[in-house]
Amino acid sequence: MNLPQPRDPPVSPLAAKAHQSAPPSKAVVAPRGGVWHVEVCLKPTSSLSVTSGVQMSRAFLAQMADTLDSLRPLPAPGHSCRLQADFPEGSDIQRHVAFMDIVQDTVGPQGVNGLDPVGVCPVWATLNWATDPRIRVHVFKLDVHGSQTEDIDEEGTVHAALSWILPSSDIDGQWESLVFDSNIKSALLDYVQMAMLLSERGVDPNRVSWNRVVFLHGPPGTGKTSLCQALAHKLAIRLNDQYQYGQLFEVNSHSLFSKWFSESGNLVQRMFETIRSIADDPTVLVCVMIDEVESLAATRKAGGNEPTDALRVVNALLTQIDQIKRLPNVLILTTSNVSGAIDLAFVDRADFKKYIGPPSTRALYQILLSSVEELMRVRILQSHPLLSLNALENTNLSLPSDSNCLSYALFKAAQKANGLSGRILKKLPLLALIKMTPTSDGASLSEFIECLTQVVDEEISDRNALRSGNGPPGTLNNPDKTTY
Ligand SMILES: Nc1ncnc2c1ncn2[C@@H]1O[C@H](COP(=O)(O)OP(=O)(O)OP(=O)(O)O)[C@@H](O)[C@H]1O
Ligand SMILES: [Mg+2]
Repeated sequence: MNLPQPRDPPVSPLAAKAHQSAPPSKAVVAPRGGVWHVEVCLKPTSSLSVTSGVQMSRAFLAQMADTLDSLRPLPAPGHSCRLQADFPEGSDIQRHVAFMDIVQDTVGPQGVNGLDPVGVCPVWATLNWATDPRIRVHVFKLDVHGSQTEDIDEEGTVHAALSWILPSSDIDGQWESLVFDSNIKSALLDYVQMAMLLSERGVDPNRVSWNRVVFLHGPPGTGKTSLCQALAHKLAIRLNDQYQYGQLFEVNSHSLFSKWFSESGNLVQRMFETIRSIADDPTVLVCVMIDEVESLAATRKAGGNEPTDALRVVNALLTQIDQIKRLPNVLILTTSNVSGAIDLAFVDRADFKKYIGPPSTRALYQILLSSVEELMRVRILQSHPLLSLNALENTNLSLPSDSNCLSYALFKAAQKANGLSGRILKKLPLLALIKMTPTSDGASLSEFIECLTQVVDEEISDRNALRSGNGPPGTLNNPDKTTY
């Protein structure tokens, strides 16, 4: 495999352009299923080349497979595990590698959402880590510079977007933390890989059309924005044999509405010109994220016959999407929670449209479990083994035994939380901790789950009060134009 050398990721788009290098190697789209991804993050101080990083990682896994088998199971399909504390003290791998994520691709529509592991899960030692071509090693460094503001006017007053060089430490771990009831995560990866393959093979767009536009819609707080960011980050890791690095632009739609009549359409055009100037370099994977896309792509019907500024913005957006799709390294990721207000001409341009609803009880349990495990990791909660969702479901829930009663209590809290979004759920552990008696040596898990159940109840009754109109005016009981 002819991989590019790792580099210190550039800090700005202009600096990024200075990192031009050899043209990307031809991509080979991995066959789905039975493929293992080893995502190796080098330390900022490491000067290891990608080729050496791949060899070192394979050799380490081959040597350690027996030991790893005694420590932990291989992750089930669709799940991942992070090796970090497992590197031998003083070894080369410890000197160069910050962490290593192991992920197994899945076959078919199930087991790919972080919820339902399916398929055969071999043990570490049965895989030939040194040479098996189904094992793909991706070596990268995280960019640690965070986001930058992208201005599109000379005075620097229009902050049109935030941009990140990818993979970014800001987004590390986000993909793994998202839990959905559908197979959306693997479907998104499949979609991008297939769109790239069509571009690569030179498929005639007059016969088969694709725009590389993703549109996620659904109620607030269900993970749409996080998923788009995480996808861009994950692609920068997985496709790093084709692209030197990625760049994510998070468009600030509101900044593009100028106070000067008719100027907004020009601002949209200028913003896309900035993005295009980066995307002209075929070694950069450019992901453009337009959150709350309804503010740019509001339905043109609403404007009546007047050529309003909003109408000019929609037209400019559609024209720019049509132009930028000629660049094979650009992906446009959009989200909305008022999809009914979006221009159909925009919706038609999205190849991949998906509704993301509130999490099911099973997903809620998984999200709560991961919050609890995090609090245990930092010793705010006393350590206690909890059952994974699958293990819990394989036990008889109506007859909880001593060993699983805390997991069962957590599952009951998840059941009560039905209807709450991921965003709300992730805030509840903090509220539960506030209710507890402070301790210096880690709080008890059973007391925590009790408090968590109380705050779930409180959250639900607050929401019901707001919905029934007893809450403050203009909040949840004001339907506005929201579809969800
Ligand atoms: N399914 C989920 N799994 C894990 N975490 C989730 C999930 N859904 C939401 N979250 C968490 O909730 C927070 C808010 O998510 P995010 O901003 O992506 O939601 P959104 O759908 O874009 O909301 P909005 O429509 O209001 O913009 C994030 O911290 C995210 O990690
Ligand atoms: Mg959002």
